[in-house]
Amino acid sequence: MCGIVAYVGERTAYPILIKGLQRLEYRGYDSAGIALANGGIRVYKCKGRVKDLQALARDKEVGGSIGMGHTRWATHGEPSDANAHPHASERGIFHVVHNGIIENHAHLRRELVRRGYTFRSETDTEVLANLIEDTYLEQNVSAELAVRLALTRVVGAYGLVILCDREPGKLLAARKGSPLVIGVGEGEYFLASDAMPIIEYTDRVIYMNDEEVAVITPSALDLKDLYNDVKTPEIKTIKLSIANADKGEFPHFMLKEIHEQPFSVTDTFRGRVAADGDKIVLGGILDVMPRLVEARRVIIVACGTSWHAALVGEYLLEEYARVPVEVEYASEFRYRDPIVGEGDLVIAISQSGETADTLAAIRRVKGTGATCLGICNVAGSSISRETEAGVYTRAGIEIGVASTKAFTSQITVLAMMAFLLGSKRRVLDAAEYRALVSELTRVPEMIATVLEQEGRIKEIAELYKESPNALFLGRGILFPVALEGALKLKEISYIHAEGYPAAEMKHGPIALVDERMPVFAIATSDKLYDKTAGNIQEVKARGGKVIAIATRGNEEIRGLADQVIEIPPCHVALSPLLAVVPLQLFAYHVAVARGCNVDQPRNLAKSVTVE
Ligand code: M6R
Repeated sequence: MCGIVAYVGERTAYPILIKGLQRLEYRGYDSAGIALANGGIRVYKCKGRVKDLQALARDKEVGGSIGMGHTRWATHGEPSDANAHPHASERGIFHVVHNGIIENHAHLRRELVRRGYTFRSETDTEVLANLIEDTYLEQNVSAELAVRLALTRVVGAYGLVILCDREPGKLLAARKGSPLVIGVGEGEYFLASDAMPIIEYTDRVIYMNDEEVAVITPSALDLKDLYNDVKTPEIKTIKLSIANADKGEFPHFMLKEIHEQPFSVTDTFRGRVAADGDKIVLGGILDVMPRLVEARRVIIVACGTSWHAALVGEYLLEEYARVPVEVEYASEFRYRDPIVGEGDLVIAISQSGETADTLAAIRRVKGTGATCLGICNVAGSSISRETEAGVYTRAGIEIGVASTKAFTSQITVLAMMAFLLGSKRRVLDAAEYRALVSELTRVPEMIATVLEQEGRIKEIAELYKESPNALFLGRGILFPVALEGALKLKEISYIHAEGYPAAEMKHGPIALVDERMPVFAIATSDKLYDKTAGNIQEVKARGGKVIAIATRGNEEIRGLADQVIEIPPCHVALSPLLAVVPLQLFAYHVAVARGCNVDQPRNLAKSVTVE
């Protein structure tokens, strides 16, 4: 949610900020703005995209080697020029860009109004700018102290960058709950919500921690906590390729990421699976392995697509490691009083590693004695840093707001964990373990064969692009794939879609079925195939249109379904990795045919760092 980028150094800041905002646009894209310090602070901001901001700034003065930029996902106040960041304080002494939500903003605003402050926007960020200015003037302190004192009064989440007109030559930054990364160059620093805008300039980064405040000049970085304790910045080297941040030959990031899956899944298991298929080594959880093997219960917390991967994980861990699993929406779990303790294993799954609810869920179990693991894609993210141990999915940067390759990599990690624990808990014998591991290594080539059917899937998308609704049915380990297929279609094409366990259809949703209702039935040749085939007939008997995802070689299904998309025969444990791909492609092509903005669907943001 919201992207922040800032620069201080010798170069001209403007092009760095614009390029950075373009790289961050997937985080929010309803308005954009920049502030440049160059003998006073100049602000350009508007409703719309970064390209609208560029048009606005064309022919304007954009000099200066200190500046900050923001791309917004609206929380307080509709998308508008006035609500776009940066926000200036009453007297223009401070300018602020902010990612997060200030929960006590209404109370602070009333107090500031009583003290004579006026407001030009509806945002909680303007409250912050005025609170800092009021503290600065009233207490006659430095900008840094004003920021620290003001923030002790704030309830909520923030990633902030601040310019002070009266203390030129420096950037101030603060974090609580919303991520901020500092890039360390030679005589220059970069700041951003994630490493994407930084990686082409430096691979040395510092992840700010909660309640830290940084004062940054071209030659120095001072880091403190809110209470004036000096902190030692920990510089890390990141390995991210800028090539991943471009669309290449593809028209959209989502399509590129769907097509990357044979490679991203390979990257997920590369070096973790022995070449002869007889073992799995997950370095990130080695230290806690005895506790994992002995775990009496697993609780997986996640949101959205990651929650669907967690449901697949439930099947895998219960079936192959015989450990009881509960899957929880992180947003619900965090506000319950869950009974968790010693012997429990809590796994947080998150592509970004920054999802506010998932982060809060793992904080909820700290100190209970439970072992807490992360399965994250973004290295150095908050969840990966706040869990005891974990496994990176290594899917590469995912930019499309609709998650695709992150999902298949999350399932790959869960499969490796399930097979490894199954072997260590002696649920799987050596031959079964070897067979599963070896099947996993074949998945990338099998995904590639599914991708070859894109032309056919595009034709099917054309047939159904005007449907107002769609149903997705699956059973067992493929039920979460039905949920994921429905979520993908909803997110990017705005068609109402629901995923159901196939047998549940008779308990209500079947009332919706008529000749305008496409029903996707995931009907692979497993032990539940006959049951699903029965459900297909029930849909057909009511005039519904059925698109079956079936195993290659199943001729019978052609007589049942209106369209069939084939996936190669594979072990049921790994079938979600194949069955989801046609559903991703279907959603993509429907969205394109409907003229939707695939990579930046309305109302969504890639990383949900607010509740
Ligand atoms: O970064 P995370 O995996 O924690 O994100 C969770 C959800 O916000 C995310 O999966 C969301 O549902 C996607 N838009 C799905 O495509």
